[in-house]
Amino acid sequence: MALSGGSTPLQMFRLLATDPRLSNFPWHHTHLFWVDERCVPFDDSNSNFGNTSTILLEKVPIPGKNIHPMSCYENPEQGSINYEKEIRSFFNLSGKELPSFDLILLGVGKDGHTASIFPESMALEEKKRLVLAVTGGEPQVTRITLTLPVLNNAKQVLFMATGKEKAEIFAQIVAGGPCELPAAMVRPASKALFWMVDREAASIFLSKGAF
Ligand code: 6PG
Repeated sequence: MALSGGSTPLQMFRLLATDPRLSNFPWHHTHLFWVDERCVPFDDSNSNFGNTSTILLEKVPIPGKNIHPMSCYENPEQGSINYEKEIRSFFNLSGKELPSFDLILLGVGKDGHTASIFPESMALEEKKRLVLAVTGGEPQVTRITLTLPVLNNAKQVLFMATGKEKAEIFAQIVAGGPCELPAAMVRPASKALFWMVDREAASIFLSKGAF
């Protein structure tokens, strides 16, 4: 599976690191990749890998060889090339083949970005590269990110959104219809696209009598 950063997944990571989930999760059969990473040292509080390590990886029996961090602090472009090579090797890809992650966990920003694919960014047009070095978002650091072709080739995609600040963007994205927001462009060919939201994030969607 490929994990996103930001704050939303952290509570899920805490739950995964406690029983009964801790004992029941198939850690030895799970390989963890990242959806995106800020190009900062792993011990920087903005590091997605660093935060996931502290809250989850250091607390669960996942083999070290099953953990595939994005390393891009020194040289983002080279980091994106290296990560693409690692993905191609792990999935034994040739030519234009795309990796098919079993599960990609995504968050969504208030502006509709997901991964580190921001509105009106060049990354939205990428059709060939699996991983790109990009700028944008908060914190204002260079990042590397999986691209839409990879996200849309996943067997399953799970978005998570919590809190009132995500209510407007969630309602806008799931309303359907033409939408150029990056999160709305995640439409996996598998059709296995799920949203896990709390009541606050769903409040506008629900107020429209969606159910
Ligand atoms: C990142 C994330 C990013 C995140 C959204 C939502 O590295 O910033 O991958 O795409 O999922 O920005 O962030 P929150 O969960 O903190 O609201």
